[in-house]
Amino acid sequence: MALVSMGPMLKRAQAARYGIAAFNMIDYNSARAIIEGAAEKKAPMIVQVSVKTIKHWGFKPIATWVRMLAEGVDVPVALHLDHCSDVDVIAKCIEAGWTSVMFDGSSLPFAENKANSEAVYRMTEDAGVGLEAEIGAIGGVEDDKFVAEDAAILANYDECVEFVKGMPNLAVFAPAIGTAHGFYKGQPKIAYDLLEKITATIPIPIALHGGTGLSQEQFDRCIAGGCAKVNISTMHKHRYIDGFLQVRADKPKLEEPLPFIVGQYEAMKRDVLDMIDAFGSAGKAAHAAGTEA
Ligand code: 13P
Repeated sequence: MALVSMGPMLKRAQAARYGIAAFNMIDYNSARAIIEGAAEKKAPMIVQVSVKTIKHWGFKPIATWVRMLAEGVDVPVALHLDHCSDVDVIAKCIEAGWTSVMFDGSSLPFAENKANSEAVYRMTEDAGVGLEAEIGAIGGVEDDKFVAEDAAILANYDECVEFVKGMPNLAVFAPAIGTAHGFYKGQPKIAYDLLEKITATIPIPIALHGGTGLSQEQFDRCIAGGCAKVNISTMHKHRYIDGFLQVRADKPKLEEPLPFIVGQYEAMKRDVLDMIDAFGSAGKAAHAAGTEA
């Protein structure tokens, strides 16, 4: 299928209470594991890209790989830009064929974050692509941004209401609800009550950041509470490295590189399949695409 915009898929997913996985791709092999994993499970998928990954490979190669892979499968795939505070990068992604982008102004004072998010919103509306915007401060490391545990701040409910007012067609909203990027050191304190209050009054699907390391029960409660986009990055990166190293450990004398790439692909895909099951999106491709009979 041609790449799709994630907004309509996420609305349907939120209404039916399942989560669409959003994996941070690393390279062609990783994009292939993500998209072919989705196809195997007949699940909708969001392939998201961190700014440093784009800086490494370039806009065009990534857009070309993901578009080509998406066109080879029968499930809806969106190409999304993860956390980005640089409007120039956002514009270049839109130009290169991304179907949605995230503007992350969460480190700015509220009024400035709102004004800047609205400016990017107008840009994305004109271009016909989806927007994700964030408030509060999600802890941990993502891309080159680090938010210390004690600096992580839950989104303020009244600010959430105010924030989205000027962006009625926001594809997905990312309020900080207590999850964090990277592996959890202790148990995350997820503010389910805040999530439910936001979902009850704001008709926009919610993004769950910091998916790596959450338990099935935590995924279930967040998805039941309105999270429709579930982000996984750290675990995917670990599978990428470990899958490769496992081949070296199993066959120390191997000199042919392709089996390493296959081992890596399989390790990443296994995790993609597991997460799709965990989020309840297996078999939901047609539902998410709006083409269900
Ligand atoms: P993890 O790295 O914890 O999986 O979080 C990913 C994420 O939220 C990307 O924005």
